[in-house]
Parts: sequence; C-alpha cells; structure tokens
Amino acid sequence: MRLAGKVCIVTGAASGIGLASAQLFAVEGATVVSADLDGTPYRVDVGDEAETLSLAAAAVAEHGRIDVLFNNAGIAGVGDLEETSLELWEQVMRVNARGVFLMSRAVVPTMIAQRSGSIVNMSSAIAETGLARRVSYAASKGAVLALTKSMQVDLAPHGVRVNALLPGTIMTPFVERYLKESYADPEEGRRSIRSRQLGGELGTPEDVAYAALYLASDESRFVLGSGLVVDGGLSAGKA
Ligand SMILES: NC(=O)c1ccc[n+]([C@@H]2O[C@H](COP(=O)([O-])OP(=O)(O)OC[C@H]3O[C@@H](n4cnc5c(N)ncnc54)[C@H](O)[C@@H]3O)[C@@H](O)[C@H]2O)c1
Repeated sequence: MRLAGKVCIVTGAASGIGLASAQLFAVEGATVVSADLDGTPYRVDVGDEAETLSLAAAAVAEHGRIDVLFNNAGIAGVGDLEETSLELWEQVMRVNARGVFLMSRAVVPTMIAQRSGSIVNMSSAIAETGLARRVSYAASKGAVLALTKSMQVDLAPHGVRVNALLPGTIMTPFVERYLKESYADPEEGRRSIRSRQLGGELGTPEDVAYAALYLASDESRFVLGSGLVVDGGLSAGKA
C-alpha cells in the first residue's frame, strides 16, 4: 500500500499509461480521481483553464485534499518543420505544455496549504534526443521538462515535489495510431522502433505506471526536479 490515504489526480486516465497508472495507484491504496476528455468518472480538457479549476475543486470538495497530480494527458504530433501546420503546433502545445501548466496551477494552492504534494509531469525521451518528424511534439515535451525544473525550484520551500517521466516507446493506442499514420506497413514500423531498443523490446503501460508510482509515493521524498528515463535503453547508447 505505497499510496495509502493519498488522493491522486491522474489526467488522460481513460487509456494507455494513464489508465494503467490509475489502476496501479488504486491497488496501492490511493483514492484516484481519474480524469479525461471522456470515459472516466471526472471530465477535463486539460487545455481549458475553467475545467482544470473545476477538477481541482471537485477533488478537494469530495476528498478533502490533493496529494498527487499525475499530468499524463497528451497527444501526438507527427511532422517535420515544413509538414507541421500552425494549427497542429498550437494543438499539441495546448494539450501537452499548456495542459501541464494549467492543471498544476489549479492544484498547487491546495498542495501549498497542505505543505505537501507530488506532481509528476509526463515528458518524453524526445525531450533529450531528437527523433524524425516530431517538431511540435518534441517542443512540447522539452517544455514540460524545463517547466518541471522551474516549478520545482519555486515549490520546494512549500514541501511540494515536481518530477518528470521520460518514457521511450510504449505500446499504447497512442503509438498504434502513430504507426498507422507513419508507415505503409505498421509491422515494419514496429520492427524499426524495436531495433532502437537496447533491450530489443518496447515498453508496456505498466512499465511507466511503476515509475509514476515511485515518483508519486513518499519513497521518492529525496527526488526533486528530476527527469526519470524509462526507455528500455533507447537513450543509453547504441549496441
Ligand atoms: N506511448 C508512448 O510511447 C509515449 C512515450 C513518451 C511519452 N508518452 C506520453 O504519455 C502520455 C500518455 O500517452 P499514452 O501513450 O498512454 O496515450 P493514449 O493516447 O493511450 O492516452 C492519452 C489520453 O489522454 C487523453 N487526452 C488527450 N487530450 C486530452 C485533453 N485535452 N484533456 C484531457 N485528456 C486528454 C486521451 O483522451 C487519452 O485517453 C502522453 O502525454 C504521451 O505524450 C507516451
């Protein structure tokens, strides 16, 4: 029961990593506020300021506190500079970067008043290593990593920790969609992604959920402002 008694908000909790994390957090004793555009008990568009404020208020009204915010909601954006329309750029930045900013701003007054809290922000290995045709997505995830460190400096004196996750390729509906969009033969795409991995395997949503659990729990009390890489060796080097 590594999260016993903790109230945890998980965004993007209807699918993939968010769903696996919400389930794992509940097994570990948390009261989970699962939020997504739809398909979860709580509705939120993380890019909408009023909706983020309502979600934070509902969590406090119903459960009395907020111990953990897992800013997991995110969308993909495929395209190099010329392929990326301004509309796609703004859509990706709105969910992935502005969403983390707005959700965090909505919960932070509660965490400061409690003098405790853990915010886990979903970045990506792409924040540190370039990948073809991902300009909007890479920029958004780089922003999340920088935002994490900046937030941590400001929030450390209030007892609030802020860390980021940097996953590699994790098999979720998100990646299945990307394989269909980017490769004529998705199986060839899967093989090509697998060949980048030192371990030869792609990750599962549970691989990332366990990392989120660690950062959410008090076990990581001495971990502040870090980016935890969960990528099967993708960024460690080439075999
Ligand atoms: N799958 C990977 O390989 C991978 C790698 C690195 C980082 N990530 C990041 O992990 C996070 C989760 O990805 P996943 O692979 O589980 O994707 P997914 O598509 O399976 O799940 C993402 C969830 O976010 C929700 N969402 C999208 N826009 C939203 C919004 N405006 N407000 C609230 N919810 C919204 C979706 O409805 C969906 O349920 C994303 O931030 C993604 O960028 C994924």
